[in-house]
Amino acid sequence: MDDIYKLYEQKFSKSKALYEKAKSLFPNGICHDIRSYPPFPVVTDRCEDIYMYDTNGNRLLDLWMGHFALLLGHGSITQNAGAERGLEAGIHHGTLNTMQIEFAETLKSAVPELELMRLCTSGTEATMYVTRVARAFTRRDVIVKVEGGWHGGNSVLSNGVVPPFVKRENAPEGLKTVSVPYNNTERTLDILNEYKDDTAAIILEPMLGAGGGILADEEYLKAIRQFCDETGTLLIFDEVVTGFRFRYGSIWPLLGVQPDLFTFGKATAGGMHVGIYGGRRDVMETISKQKLFAGGGTYSGNPLSMAVGIQTLNKLKTMDYNSLNIAGDGIRQFLESKVQNLKVPAAATGYGSYFCLHFLTDRPETVTPAILMSSSDKDMENLFKAAMLVNNVFTVHSGGALSFMHMKSSTIDTIKQAYIKTFEMLEI
Ligand SMILES: Cc1ncc(COP(=O)(O)O)c(C=O)c1O
Repeated sequence: MDDIYKLYEQKFSKSKALYEKAKSLFPNGICHDIRSYPPFPVVTDRCEDIYMYDTNGNRLLDLWMGHFALLLGHGSITQNAGAERGLEAGIHHGTLNTMQIEFAETLKSAVPELELMRLCTSGTEATMYVTRVARAFTRRDVIVKVEGGWHGGNSVLSNGVVPPFVKRENAPEGLKTVSVPYNNTERTLDILNEYKDDTAAIILEPMLGAGGGILADEEYLKAIRQFCDETGTLLIFDEVVTGFRFRYGSIWPLLGVQPDLFTFGKATAGGMHVGIYGGRRDVMETISKQKLFAGGGTYSGNPLSMAVGIQTLNKLKTMDYNSLNIAGDGIRQFLESKVQNLKVPAAATGYGSYFCLHFLTDRPETVTPAILMSSSDKDMENLFKAAMLVNNVFTVHSGGALSFMHMKSSTIDTIKQAYIKTFEMLEI
């Protein structure tokens, strides 16, 4: 262990010094909790294509790609063309502008179920506003989310994120958020029935991202859909990660269950700050009918973000998602086969281009978010991340997500070789 951290400190010596400075500026030295990891985070200077360049000049193959937002790579021609258009238009208008309309029309042609939508500047805002609209429409208070579900930093949805999923971290008085176990239909329906007269909406990620890379079961989603139809509860898919990652549009046609409302963000805008929420016209009309304050903030729909978003969506429309998903399946199968022979308990999860490797304290019989999160071996995960960085690959959750720029067989090979070398270094 010490040897790996020693190698890390040598390789990333300049990051260490800069991290000391960052600690005097930011709590814990970072501006997003996931960017902190031991012994200190790598400080990047510049990113290009699928690579990060750190302050020591190391070139690191990036599997994080800006919180999974960059499906076309860092600094792509598409991104730059959009940025140029946005700069020419004037970065920020603070008005209804032509690019907002073009961006929304492009989105709607990919997701026709977005009958009406609102634009904001992050996934956090989108989930905050969509639950507010759901409460106003149904005139009910309770929001149900799943255990381990991450919907950004907004107060109402910041509970039930970390095992044992009982902490009511931030929920303000009077607004109740209840968590249900993902993919456990029986327990979920029991809890839903307890709150059936008071539940405004159920919000879930169709593939639990931060909660472990686990796809929702079709049977689970169907049971929830049926509960919603019978009780007038709204179903919200938080597609900030899944939207435009596995196909051009929402993931719902792949899963067979349609939600009432959606949130999108990340992949839609090629690295710019965008959040989107919307769906059923009658629900979204609550904003005008009840004069509801439902977003979007000073920078919502700013020309720079919109222009990069338009360019990104138009390019994504032409891309081969099937091959991207197959490339991800290949890495996951490789990890699954390795996990069988590791000396430590581990599990590989994910879907399509998204893959995670979990180090655990016990060998799991089944893989559920609760098991993955409560028996996670954090020390091993941290050490693994440092060793992968020593081997020039930047991972998150010991895995990551592929962009369309990762699909060369030589790149896939480099990723697999880094995993093999890291297992050897750790002697696991
Ligand atoms: C599923 C999901 N929803 C919402 C968010 C919040 O989005 P943002 O970080 O843009 O505020 C995230 C962020 O990772 C997410 O994964």
